Amino acid sequence: MILLDGKYTSNIIKEEIALDVSKLIEKGGKKPHLAAILVGDNGASETYVNAKVRACEIVGFTSTLIRLENNISEEILLNEIKKINSNDDIDGLIVQLPLPDHIDEIKVTDAILPEKDVDGFHPFNIGRMNLELPTFLPATPAGIVELLKRYKVETSGKHCVVVGRSSIVGTPISILMSRNSYPGNSTVTLTHSRTQNLKKISQSADILIVALGKAEFITSEMVKKGACVIDVGITRVKSEKTKSGWKLKGDVDFNNVSKKCSYITPVPGGVGPMTIAMLLKNTLLSAKQKL
Ligand code: GUN
Repeated sequence: MILLDGKYTSNIIKEEIALDVSKLIEKGGKKPHLAAILVGDNGASETYVNAKVRACEIVGFTSTLIRLENNISEEILLNEIKKINSNDDIDGLIVQLPLPDHIDEIKVTDAILPEKDVDGFHPFNIGRMNLELPTFLPATPAGIVELLKRYKVETSGKHCVVVGRSSIVGTPISILMSRNSYPGNSTVTLTHSRTQNLKKISQSADILIVALGKAEFITSEMVKKGACVIDVGITRVKSEKTKSGWKLKGDVDFNNVSKKCSYITPVPGGVGPMTIAMLLKNTLLSAKQKL
C-alpha cells in the first residue's frame, strides 16, 4: 500500500509556487493577494481559513482576512464582496462555506467577480470547467487530480466510483475523472444518498473517491482489493486519547481499508493540504493573468 501523502506533496507545490512568486516580483509584478471572508464562528471553517492564511504567508502572498459576525445581513456581505471586486490589489477572493442559513450561498457566489473566483464556484467558471476551457478549477477536485498525477496512479479505463454529489467535490470530480485526459478517461459512477446497492458498486471501484462527511462510513468490505482510495471527508469526533479531546476522522475506515488497497489518502494530511495548495495555485494564476 502506498500512502498518497498530501502534506508532503502540497509542500512541494508550495515550494514551486514560492519560486514563481519570486520570479513574478523580479519581472516587476507584485505579490499575489488572496482575500478570504469568514462569516460567523463555525470552528471547522475557522480552522480552514486560518490554514489558508498561513499558507499564503509561506509562499509569499499577501492575504486579507475579513471576519463578519454570524448575524450580519446578506446585503453587508454582498457589499464587502463588491469592495473586493473593485480593489485592484486583490487577485483572488473566497467566501468560506457553509454560510449561516439566512444568507443565500448562490447569491454570494454569483457576486464574486469570475476573474477573482479562485475557488472556481461561480457559474461562469463552472460552465467553463464543464466545457474544458481554461478556468479556475475548484480546489478540492483539482487537488485530487494533482495527487493522482504526481503519484502516477493509472486512471485510464478504470472504474471510478464517487460517493457524494456535492457541487464543490462530488459533481466536479466526477466530470474531471471522466474527461479525455490524464488523470481521467475513467468510467465514472456518481453515487449519493438514494443509491441502491452502494456496497456492490463500491466493491467494483478501481478508484474510490469518498466525499460525504460521515466518519468511517466506508468499511473494508466495501472496497475491492488493490483499489485506490481517496478520502475527502473530515469529521471531528470526541476522543479520550488526544489532549484536545477531539480527533479528525475521514469517511473511510483507514486502519482496515489501508490493509486492502493499493493507494490511500490519510486524514488528516491527504486531500486537505492539497486543497489549500490548489487554491494558492489559482491565486497565482490570477495574479499572473493580470501581469
Ligand atoms: N467549504 C468547504 N470547502 C470549501 C472550499 O474549498 N472553499 C470554500 N470557500 N469553502 C469551503
